[in-house]
Amino acid sequence: MTETTLFGFNGSTFVRTVRCVLARKSISYNQVPVNVLEGETQEPDHLERHPFGKVPVLDVDGESFGDSVAIMQFLADKHGRFTAPAGTVARGKQDAVTNFINDEMDALFARAIERHLKDPNASALSVMVNAETPIPMSQIYANIKIAIGGGINEPRDALLTILYGLLTNPDQNEAAKRDGLWGQAFEEGVRWVAPIQASSRRVMEDTEIRGHFIPKGDIVMTVQASACHDEDLYEDPHLYNIFRPKTPHQAFGNGPHFCQGTHIARRMLADIMLPMLYDRFPDMALPEPEKVQFWGFGFRGPLSLPVTLN
Ligand code: HEM
Repeated sequence: MTETTLFGFNGSTFVRTVRCVLARKSISYNQVPVNVLEGETQEPDHLERHPFGKVPVLDVDGESFGDSVAIMQFLADKHGRFTAPAGTVARGKQDAVTNFINDEMDALFARAIERHLKDPNASALSVMVNAETPIPMSQIYANIKIAIGGGINEPRDALLTILYGLLTNPDQNEAAKRDGLWGQAFEEGVRWVAPIQASSRRVMEDTEIRGHFIPKGDIVMTVQASACHDEDLYEDPHLYNIFRPKTPHQAFGNGPHFCQGTHIARRMLADIMLPMLYDRFPDMALPEPEKVQFWGFGFRGPLSLPVTLN
């Protein structure tokens, strides 16, 4: 039987990514929690596994891999791609379908852009293509595709998370209904379980954060989920609490790639969906909260929420 050992502690995003893939592929493994914060990555036995003392390191039957990208590639080659079906034929078919969908979307955008160039309006696509100095067309297309995905996935995860938070905290549920605290319920929901938990970035200049040197050119993950649980900012960050003092959060990211749909999401959920849902089903309940499974590393939310509408 294959002996698989993962070296690295769960506080590391890269270790968690590899653990998600191992779990998803049902690969059993032992984990040795080498903790970077305790300096254990610089111990001689770990430096032997990885000369720069990084985690994770994956050992499979004595063959060692010391880089998360290499590990993911190795696992994909050995066990099939993370999100793709097994087998070359099935994967080829999936690629064909996704490329076909992409081509069809691109053709649709091209037709719409022709129209918007002649007759501008206030839509996102029209504003982007008619800008004085437009961003490259490939980025405009990518933005519209993200808006379509972002318009569906993140609000869905946020809605279920908020409902879970409210329905498992009856006092907050009652207060939200009584005083219409949907804005607070929304902000606290996306802070509590950020629908997009992490993003990757290339480091543009040598940087030091809390004594840790991060060289220019490195790829890092900015973990929104972690920033939203910063103990210096939030008391008991692991708890859903719509009454906590208003504090900015990072659930919509930051900087040039700050979510373009923030205000749409707020309006959609806090001003429309939550009030309408509670108006129609004020006695909605969650009879078996322990059955709700939150899932996902990059994107996170409950897999399902079996409520009774009453
Ligand atoms: C609760 C709902 C939502 C959450 C929590 C959310 C979160 C985020 C986050 C964290 C990013 C930044 C990713 C990064 O920096 O790598 C992002 C980007 C983006 N989001 Fe959202 N989003 C939500 C809803 C939406 C909606 C409804 C739309 C559009 C209708 C949308 C459109 C976009 C777009 C276009 C970007 C890319 C911006 C850029 O790269 O310049 N999002 N979102």
